[in-house]
Amino acid sequence: MSTGDALTRTKIVILDFGSQYTQVIARRIRESRVYSEIIPFNLSAEQVRRLQPKGIVLSGGPASVFAPGAPLIDPAIFSLNIPVLGICYGVHLQALNLGGVVEFSDRREFGAGLLRVVSPSRLFEGLPTEFPVWNSHGDKVTALPPGFQVVGVTENSPFAAVEDSNRGLFGLQFHPEVAHTPLGKEILENFVYGICGCRPDWTMGSFIEESCREIRKRVGPDKVILGLSGGVDSSVTAALIHRAIGDQLTCIFVNNGLLRAREAETVQKVFGENFRIKLKYVDASVRFLDRLKGVVDPEQKRKIIGKEFIRVFEATALELKTQDSKEHRYRYLAQGTLYPDVIESVAIGGNPAAMIKSHHNVGGLPEKMDFELIEPLRQLFKDEVRQVGLELELPREVVFRQPFPGPGLAVRILGEINPERLQVLRQADEIVVSEMKAANWYYKVWQSFAVLLPVRSVGVMGDQRTYESTIALRIVESQDGMTADWVRIPYEILSKISSRIINEVKGVNRVCYDVSSKPPSTIEWE
Ligand code: XMP
Repeated sequence: MSTGDALTRTKIVILDFGSQYTQVIARRIRESRVYSEIIPFNLSAEQVRRLQPKGIVLSGGPASVFAPGAPLIDPAIFSLNIPVLGICYGVHLQALNLGGVVEFSDRREFGAGLLRVVSPSRLFEGLPTEFPVWNSHGDKVTALPPGFQVVGVTENSPFAAVEDSNRGLFGLQFHPEVAHTPLGKEILENFVYGICGCRPDWTMGSFIEESCREIRKRVGPDKVILGLSGGVDSSVTAALIHRAIGDQLTCIFVNNGLLRAREAETVQKVFGENFRIKLKYVDASVRFLDRLKGVVDPEQKRKIIGKEFIRVFEATALELKTQDSKEHRYRYLAQGTLYPDVIESVAIGGNPAAMIKSHHNVGGLPEKMDFELIEPLRQLFKDEVRQVGLELELPREVVFRQPFPGPGLAVRILGEINPERLQVLRQADEIVVSEMKAANWYYKVWQSFAVLLPVRSVGVMGDQRTYESTIALRIVESQDGMTADWVRIPYEILSKISSRIINEVKGVNRVCYDVSSKPPSTIEWE
């Protein structure tokens, strides 16, 4: 399978040395409407030149340049006649490669500092002569390479900002990309606009146009299949490819019987009726529920659902393939892979060769299906994907919907899954969603949902004793799902959700609020 969705536009490349901030640099530059792309640090100067960047950024890195196996670069990168901005670790590499001196320090300077501009620099054009900056580094430069001069100092660093403007080489000891450097955006803009000569032409409108052109060119008269889940990524992929090739796209939507209330109807309405996308709706709910009968182990549930999905998807795709004519084949499989899925961080001291991973959302579709992959979003961050979705006129509810796990409600029903318990959870979940929306909290949090526990407890309804199920409420905030904290939601909202669930959902007499953070808990309960 090959992808081949590379875009050719003016860009800044960022050599990644494994800093947590590398993606932040890329995002900041893109926010200034200049396309930026993260590339492995070990590309040769010739490989970098062939990418035709207008500028090169050397990111920070967690390592010391003196650490065993520290990521080093091809020094010829400094002689490509392309402006280079070294940040933190990047500035140490610059000094090391060009004849300066770097000293090892195992004590990190971490925190705020005040930069004083001591000599005019194009990097600081239009900025005050003093402003706050954020530091996080161990090693430090102690002597400059020939041709370099100091343009900015901080209390702890006589070489906080350095440059050889004749050769277009710039270095910052601090991090301009983080929010704690409030003028960082202006500094990066001075680099990309002023020094590299980039224009602010990276907009989602231009992305859509360019992608559509590329998709048309690549697909030609052939056809594309896409597994539509109703989540943001696959929805935007569908809308984008449909914009490009219309009826040559067929989406497959599998109802696994583990969806939320009205989910299947909504997907059919939005994509089938409004967008008029060719949609193959497969109701496999009986199959899935049959296979899940009696299964309570979370891992086993996930495995069964994953395997069954592939079976159903494969059968449906092969069925479509029987409609192939010689001229028009279902030749491509589209996926909503995003940029963060594509970039793998640097393995310091490990094997730096395997930098870019190929990520398959559909997961292990057999090679015999013989599809070529199309991943038109593989250069976008999540917020950019949402913007593309809005520009393609997808409804806000789709574009800003909360993440929903592939195995669906199965991992939110602890214990056995059966139609009755699914019904209970669907009703409770619908109340959570509607109350969160009504209170204007739904879009403020990462996820808010109900979990059905395998626990019954005693209650009283009228003068009747009840012995019924328990719902746990999970409401979390998070940036990316990797870590999360429970939301300090106002009691009134909890109270409303709780009383509605207990009053309206038959079989539930108790609601609890989950006050665990991730780690050590996870967001989903299974
Ligand atoms: P956990 O429970 O691991 O979840 O803290 C982190 C984030 O991932 C979502 N999640 C999944 N998404 N397939 C998915 O597409 C899955 O199997 C899956 N499991 C968890 C979860 O909702 C949360 O946002």
